[in-house]
Amino acid sequence: METAILESLYHWFGDYVQTFYSDDAEIQPKVLEKEKHSLIVAGLNRDLARSLGLDAAETQLAEAIGLCHDVGRFRQVTVYRTFRDRDSVDHGRLGVEELLAAGIDGRLEPRDWEALAFAVRWHNAAAVPGQPDARLALHSKLIRDTDKLDICRVLPPSPPADGCSPGLENEFLAGNLLYYEDIKTTDDRKLVMLSWLFDVNFPWTIRELAARGHIDRLLDALPPSAALPAIRRKVALFLAENASRQD
Ligand SMILES: [Fe+2]
Repeated sequence: METAILESLYHWFGDYVQTFYSDDAEIQPKVLEKEKHSLIVAGLNRDLARSLGLDAAETQLAEAIGLCHDVGRFRQVTVYRTFRDRDSVDHGRLGVEELLAAGIDGRLEPRDWEALAFAVRWHNAAAVPGQPDARLALHSKLIRDTDKLDICRVLPPSPPADGCSPGLENEFLAGNLLYYEDIKTTDDRKLVMLSWLFDVNFPWTIRELAARGHIDRLLDALPPSAALPAIRRKVALFLAENASRQD
């Protein structure tokens, strides 16, 4: 992607988001939160692409994908007043619809549009459909990592509360990715976010999660339980084995 196209996307994005600015005191902070998240993820996706040695054009495409990945959020929260996809709409799919309605597909090289649309469509899915095109698969992996990284900033853990579900603790100790759908207690959310470690695609992301203190904050916010020492050991071992891997 050329610099001029990336810059035009930033302009479009700013204008687009402003159309969702609202006098509604419940909606406006949510719009601003997602605007900030989108801009931060654009930078993270650029940084990750660069760290992998992608060339300038692919790095700018990654930045554009970061900027656009949550574009469905603004209409979602305006219409449904929630970010919960289950209660409203798949915001990855809605994002692609919004981009098409704005004619963004016509501004990009066809192969860049294909990669951007695929990455936006599936960034929030539990699993990405098999993708034989390595370039599409790569961009989808980048955004899924950097999105998770910034969600840890947006949603810091609450203090220890009602305990984790034992079933989830066992799943975590088995090294399995946990899902929002499995959350039954306040503390379960922390285990779900910690389990993202097992799902991220690049050691860069593991290092960033640790360096920004997200791992320690999540661990420190877990309530005492019989499984907690084993959970801490599991995380420490995972970091020792994976954080220094080559991307
Ligand atoms: Fe999203």
